[in-house]
Amino acid sequence: MHTPRPFPADFLWGASTAAHQIEGNNVNSDWWQLEHSRPGMQPSGDALDSYHRFEEDMRLLAQAGFNAYRFGIEWARIEPARGHFSRALLAHYRRMIDTARGLGLTPIVTLHHFTHPAWFGEAGGWLAADATDLFARYAEQVCSILDGVEWVCTFNEPNVVALMHGARRVGAGQEFPPGMLPDEEIGAALVGAHKTVAPLIRDRVGAKVGWTIGNQAFQAAPGGEAKLAEVQWIWEDMYLEPARHDDFVGVQTYTSQVVDEHGIRPHPDHPDNTLMGWAYRPDAIGIAVRHTREVVGDVPILITENGLATDDDERRIAYTRAALGHLRDAIEEGIDVRGYLHWSLLDNYEWGRWEPTFGLVAVDHQTFARQPKPSLSWLGAVAKANKI
Ligand code: NOJ
Repeated sequence: MHTPRPFPADFLWGASTAAHQIEGNNVNSDWWQLEHSRPGMQPSGDALDSYHRFEEDMRLLAQAGFNAYRFGIEWARIEPARGHFSRALLAHYRRMIDTARGLGLTPIVTLHHFTHPAWFGEAGGWLAADATDLFARYAEQVCSILDGVEWVCTFNEPNVVALMHGARRVGAGQEFPPGMLPDEEIGAALVGAHKTVAPLIRDRVGAKVGWTIGNQAFQAAPGGEAKLAEVQWIWEDMYLEPARHDDFVGVQTYTSQVVDEHGIRPHPDHPDNTLMGWAYRPDAIGIAVRHTREVVGDVPILITENGLATDDDERRIAYTRAALGHLRDAIEEGIDVRGYLHWSLLDNYEWGRWEPTFGLVAVDHQTFARQPKPSLSWLGAVAKANKI
């Protein structure tokens, strides 16, 4: 008989979203430009209209039994033109923070989730000499609305930002070749920006500040050990390194990849079998937190994303149940994990595509009506019980 195993007291249970993927009409962002200039890319358009419906989204989460919500603050809205900060938009995000807290949800706020203002990109993006200063100036404005917020992420998946922008740099577009590595120069710029901005937020707000890494849960194929160390450094360890000095590190993991002597390749035992074309690997979360612990030491870990792109909600529940079992094993080994935030609350805009659905809640694209899936109440019940 399976005995339920408790999670630590005060464990954060929530779901994650990103501004551009749900809000709609993020017209001053680099991503909006990209969607309207790249053939074959579906546009985000009105997205899920969460800009207006955030309270309904949060209410669904709170009523299901969760106690946390991770969401993004959109730089392109707050600073639509260089040096022009919108007080109205800052007030909007403050209302989101207050609404979350009013509903009993601990807000976990992300300052940069893949998008930046179009003007920032046109001025050279992360490789411009003043990129860190510009990001720090935006962060300072955001600090004015973060009073009482306990968890702040500077960047979401800087390693994936370095991959995306590296791909744009070499003209590879969004469909980057399999096995492509993040651009190390852009990565180093992001590490620099994070190291400058994290202490600034910590001092001003008193929040726990960290960043979130896209973990690939790499495994070496026979003969791939040396290559693995190289790939791991470029993919994640150079981003985990600064996290050694942070208050927490966000682990985001979906699948596991294999490295042989030539580089990254798809997992041989698991055909592409999710709507992202990623191998179904609920065990990836355990591999990722153990690797993170090896690199960062005792720094607390938040699972800031984990989930499955599927149109079969039973499969989403099975994946999540298995993933939580693996996470629980890692916690029992002594790894300090403070929370689990599922990706995603809603079936959102998956960066150029609408088809891969990660949500606990479906959304009608005409009426924007929210339709909770069984996985929302299932995971909410796990959250309430604090055990699996
Ligand atoms: C990680 C990213 O942070 C998120 O924006 C994306 O939708 C998910 N991975 C799934 O690809």
